[in-house]
Amino acid sequence: MGCQRKKLRQSYDGRITLEPEAEEKALKLLIDKNIKTVSNLHENSMTYSNDFSFSRRVLKKFWEAIEYGVHGGKRLRGILVFAAAEAVSKKEYISLSEAERTCLLDSATAIECVHAFSLVHDDLPVMDNDRLRRGRNTLHVEYDEATALLVGDALQTLGTEVLCSSENYPERRFKIISVLSKATGASGMAGGQMIDICAISNKLGKSDLEIMHKYKTGALFEAAVSMGYLAMNVAHEDNRAKSMRSFISRLGVGFQVVDDILDTVGLQKTTGKEAGRDKVLNKPNFVDLLGVEQAKEYAGECLHSALKALEKFGGEADFLRYIANRLVKRNF
Ligand code: IPE
Ligand code: IPE
Ligand code: MG
Ligand code: MG
Ligand code: MG
Repeated sequence: MGCQRKKLRQSYDGRITLEPEAEEKALKLLIDKNIKTVSNLHENSMTYSNDFSFSRRVLKKFWEAIEYGVHGGKRLRGILVFAAAEAVSKKEYISLSEAERTCLLDSATAIECVHAFSLVHDDLPVMDNDRLRRGRNTLHVEYDEATALLVGDALQTLGTEVLCSSENYPERRFKIISVLSKATGASGMAGGQMIDICAISNKLGKSDLEIMHKYKTGALFEAAVSMGYLAMNVAHEDNRAKSMRSFISRLGVGFQVVDDILDTVGLQKTTGKEAGRDKVLNKPNFVDLLGVEQAKEYAGECLHSALKALEKFGGEADFLRYIANRLVKRNF
C-alpha cells in the first residue's frame, strides 16, 4: 500500500502510518485489484481445446458480465472487515502475517461479491426495476434479465469459493463462511429483501422499518465486522466482538436510513443511482415515515449510539470510527 508523505500521521501505538482517508483509498484499491485477479483466474481457467467453441464464447461473455456486476462501488463492507480486524488485533493490515492478510483479503473480497450479487438481483424488474447502478446501466439493462439472475448466482458462490481458496486457518475460514452464509440468507439480507418486497404500498411503523433495514442491509454489515474479528481468531463470545456487533447493528440501520434520505435528496452524479425511486415504487422508508430532517437526525442518533458501543476501545478502533462517520455522513 503505497502512500505520499503528506498522508502520514502518528498512529495510536506511536508508529507513523497512513491518514484514514489514505488508508480507506488503499484498501479499496486492494479489494478492487483482488476481485479483478479472482475473476481473471477463473476466466483463464477455461481449458477447452477449441478456442472458438460456442461454450467458450458464452462463458467468456458470462465472466465479462460477472466482472461488470462486481465492478465499482464504495467497498465499505470490505473495508469494514479490515477496520474490525485492526480494532481487535491492534495491528494494521501491513503488520499482519501473510496468512492473516490473505484471510482478511479473501473475506473482504467475498463480502463484496455477495453484496454485488444482492445489488444485481435488487435491481431486477421483479424487484426494484432500476436502470442505473454505480453510475452505469444496471446489469439486466446492459445484458439481459437471465444473465443478471445467473451473474447474481455466480457472484454469491464466488464469495464462498474465495474463502475456500486457501488451506490456512481452516477453522477461522469455516466460521467466516458460516457467518457470511447466515447473513446472506433468510435470516439476513434475503429475509430483509422479502420484507421490503412485501411492504410495497404498505405503511410500516418504525419498528418494522428498523427490522427490515437490520435484515436487508445491517446483516451484511454485521457479517463484515464479524469476519474481520474471526480472521484475527477472536471468538463471537469475546467482549470486544460483542461490543463491535452492538456498534455495527446501529450503524447498519443508520447506513440504510441515509440510503433512504439519498433516494429523496441525493444527486445522481454522486450516488450513481436514479433518485426518487422509493416513492415511485411505493416503498416505505425512513423519509416516508419521518421526513428528511428527522430522518437525518435519526441517522445521527444511530451513529452516536454505534460509536458509544466502541467506548472501551482505544486508538486501535479509530479507523473503525472513521468508517462509521463515512457511512452515515456520506452524500454518495
Ligand atoms: C447499496 O449499498 C445498497 C444498500 C444496502 C443501501 P452501497 O451504497 O454500499 O453500494 P455500493 O457498493 O457503494 O455501490
Ligand atoms: C437494498 O436496498 C438492499 C439490498 C440488500 C441490496 P435498496 O433497494 O434501497 O438499495 P438501492 O437504493 O437500490 O441501492
Ligand atoms: Mg431494494
Ligand atoms: Mg434498490
Ligand atoms: Mg435505496
